Amino acid sequence: MEIFAHRGSSGTHPENTLAAFKEAARLPIQGVELDVHLSKDGEIVVIHDETIDRTSNGSGPVKEMTLEELKRYDYGSWFAQDFAGETIPTLEEVFQVYVNTNHLINIELKSDVYAYEALEEKVVALIGQYGFEERVIISSFNHGAIRKIKQLQPELVTAALFMETLVEPLNYLRVVPTDGLHLYKPSAKGDFVKELIEENVPVRIFTVNKENELEALKAIGIQAIFTDYPEKMLPYSK
Ligand code: G3P
Ligand code: MG
Repeated sequence: MEIFAHRGSSGTHPENTLAAFKEAARLPIQGVELDVHLSKDGEIVVIHDETIDRTSNGSGPVKEMTLEELKRYDYGSWFAQDFAGETIPTLEEVFQVYVNTNHLINIELKSDVYAYEALEEKVVALIGQYGFEERVIISSFNHGAIRKIKQLQPELVTAALFMETLVEPLNYLRVVPTDGLHLYKPSAKGDFVKELIEENVPVRIFTVNKENELEALKAIGIQAIFTDYPEKMLPYSK
């Protein structure tokens, strides 16, 4: 099973911080997942929510603060005092962590609530700057964003995110178009998943934190999972 650290090693470290990414970078796993938004001044920042309220000591929407304003807050203390002083990372700062590793980097474009101006172009440009074209998977619940990535750079690997079960998944893959699907754990039990596996379509499942869940997914032929506890899942890593 391919193991991806969800928001970095987010079960043991504050999610989407350099501490969480450095922890994941030292593990012999397949990859890491992270979420991106744009700041008011157009910088790509790594954070899950549209606001900084849940994961920092500040409050307000990411899109209404400049990078300098976003960096004033503490993104570690809410998780544990040991992580006090963690800041919000830019996507480039996270890329720096992985320059000398072999991990895949799954960049989730969080543009399904707010349509961030030119987010796709900016992400594609940074990938080019780092030569990470073969090391990224770009995913989103905003399938229009995935379509745009494929228009900008068709060779980049993408995946459409879904919470729901699907009908005619192979047709949908062609319509977007996209390379794979990232599915919410309960939908992995659906018959449509078998159809995808038979056609060797990459299917990755989020978020899997229990060994018995991983084993059940492995039994049906799922190739990858996202987990908050990548170290715990190391025995299953291929
Ligand atoms: O990309 C997989 C997973 O991260 C999608 O859900 O809400 O954790 O970003 P979420
Ligand atoms: Mg995510």
